[in-house]
Amino acid sequence: MSHLAYFLGAGPGDPELLTRRAERLLRECQVVYVSPLYDQTFGELLAGKELFIPFEYYFADLTTLIREQLTKGPVAFLVPGDMTFYSPFQALVDALGDQAVVVPGVGSANAASALLKKTLDLPGISSRTVLTSPRTLGEVPGAPSMRDLAAPGVTLLIYMNNLPLADLVDQLRQGYGKDVPIALAHRVGLPEEEIVLATLDSILDKVGSRDFFNLDNSSRRPALTLLLVGESLTAQADPTWWDYRRDHIWKFQDKS
Ligand SMILES: C[S@@+](CC[C@H](N)C(=O)[O-])C[C@H]1O[C@@H](n2cnc3c(N)ncnc32)[C@H](O)[C@@H]1O
Repeated sequence: MSHLAYFLGAGPGDPELLTRRAERLLRECQVVYVSPLYDQTFGELLAGKELFIPFEYYFADLTTLIREQLTKGPVAFLVPGDMTFYSPFQALVDALGDQAVVVPGVGSANAASALLKKTLDLPGISSRTVLTSPRTLGEVPGAPSMRDLAAPGVTLLIYMNNLPLADLVDQLRQGYGKDVPIALAHRVGLPEEEIVLATLDSILDKVGSRDFFNLDNSSRRPALTLLLVGESLTAQADPTWWDYRRDHIWKFQDKS
């Protein structure tokens, strides 16, 4: 009999952000594939389990090993954030087919939005949110640049930034055509969690010489920093929308 492989959205790093379903399935698995850092923050839930680092293996060896492990019991993968955006686990899920189960989790975008206490689209302020990464754009010839994606009314979520901050800010300033808020959400859900909130015109001074993106580091591993840009980061919601929705969308009877 073969068991199931669970790809559990593990959240940004804090085990408190694990869903109850993911926690239950994790408890059922003796074999767990875990990314660096999560072995530490999830230490309590992982105690006594057999741990593997998925990125240590070549793909063919890894799938052989997982299939062998699945003959003995269920296997869990702690997926950083969750599978929705920029997850390296897709090829494994595809290879395992019906044996793979994907469980959603809290992505870094959700956790950063919560820290800012802001919804990332707001009527009259932001009509669209674009999730992107200059790293993946750079891999596709003819792909739009960050300048092309930035525009009034857009909230940008920038993962895995690999551009010097001054270059990125310059492109964003051209795209937006004005000064707008920008936030660096750094190590969200981890003990060193920090949000640097500024505007395009003030962020470089505020950040100074700190390297939030590991650009000074020879490692190609992406830093745990998510960039958010756009007016929705600091805008106040217009309360008249509440009454408009009450009358026209929710259509509740008048209480008075
Ligand atoms: C390979 S992607 C994984 C994204 C993940 N699937 C998610 O939904 O959060 C890695 C990038 O996600 C962002 N990220 C992941 N975890 C983070 C955290 N704890 N704090 C801030 N940003 C994070 C950073 O932009 C990082 O470079």
